[in-house]
Amino acid sequence: MGIEQSSFIKACRGKNEGRIPVWVMRQAGRYLPEYRAVREKVSFLELCRTPELIAEVVRQPIDRFGLDAGILFSDILTILEPMGAPVSFPEGGPRLENPIDSPEAVKWLHDFDIEKELAFVPEGIRKIKEILPDLPLIGFAGSPFTVSCYLIEGKGSKAFDKAKRFIHAYPKTAAELFELVSSVTERYLRMQIEAGADAVQLFESWGGTLSRDDFLRWSVQPTNRIFTALNESKVPRILFVNNLAPYTDLVSGVNCEVVGVDYRMDLADAQRKLPGKSVQGNLDPAVLFGPLELVAAKTQMILESIDDPNRLIFNLGHGIQPGAPVEAVEMLVKTVHEFR
Ligand code: CP3
Repeated sequence: MGIEQSSFIKACRGKNEGRIPVWVMRQAGRYLPEYRAVREKVSFLELCRTPELIAEVVRQPIDRFGLDAGILFSDILTILEPMGAPVSFPEGGPRLENPIDSPEAVKWLHDFDIEKELAFVPEGIRKIKEILPDLPLIGFAGSPFTVSCYLIEGKGSKAFDKAKRFIHAYPKTAAELFELVSSVTERYLRMQIEAGADAVQLFESWGGTLSRDDFLRWSVQPTNRIFTALNESKVPRILFVNNLAPYTDLVSGVNCEVVGVDYRMDLADAQRKLPGKSVQGNLDPAVLFGPLELVAAKTQMILESIDDPNRLIFNLGHGIQPGAPVEAVEMLVKTVHEFR
């Protein structure tokens, strides 16, 4: 069976009449004992730079759960080091050596030869394709706003106030910064597609903290530009937006096939408000910590609520958390696969 005939790709195109596909955001990661075993031996960055290990950890959740798509193992911040902003990943999340805290600091960032500096990414994709030739593979990147949040804040944050202040204090410099990040991201995703990615997802993890007019300017416009540049590639494009609900109408205009919906919004409502698009989501990742019957019941509730299951990809409403029980993921996948 070719990739085009897979339930995942058909669902991306709104034409899936078979079993509902399911995958889990951050499905390769610390909640899996076999992932932790690999991480005993290598650091996170070494893992991201070793094609054989990339393929191994992409395969782990597929083998264990029978998920319908794989996602490249990397990080949305992988593009920063060659851009001139080194990142490390100590316990507790990413840390930038030199956060962009002034307009002058933006001048230190620069474009780079993606094919050369990030060669381990397409090599990783080709390795994944060797061992999992029939599995749809999702490539990904962060949205320009989300990546800029980390660039400016220098680490994780609840509200990314520094990044929000920066775009208002220095709009011209911010525009230049977004131009650079967008241009790199566009070429980065194209490289992933050329290496074999069957779909691409942009993670807009933090744009949902913006006001409406700023969301249009700093989230919708740059993501739309990146996706539009990928028109010719023909692969499905997925935009995940954390805190989608207030902005569904704005996102419905983005040039993409699928919208990833966070757990706060009613998924059926999102589907109704996104005509012509497929939806992906949206079980609250915290539910996985409840009893298995609750996981099954909440999953079933979402499945039954959907008007058009032909354009549904089941997922969590944000990334799976460290400590999530693997039995809960098994129950989630079983419930989705038995639905029809
Ligand atoms: O299966 C997969 O999805 C793996 C690929 C992947 C990773 N990060 C690996 C990773 C993906 C798609 C990401 C996306 C990512 N990275 C996002 C967007 C998704 C979201 O959650 O909104 C963001 C904001 C980041 C930045 C980042 N990287 C953070 C905040 C952290 C630390 C917190 C955490 O979740 O662990 C990372 C590190 C990271 N990226 C890990 C993994 C598996 C953990 C590193 C380790 O093994 O110690």
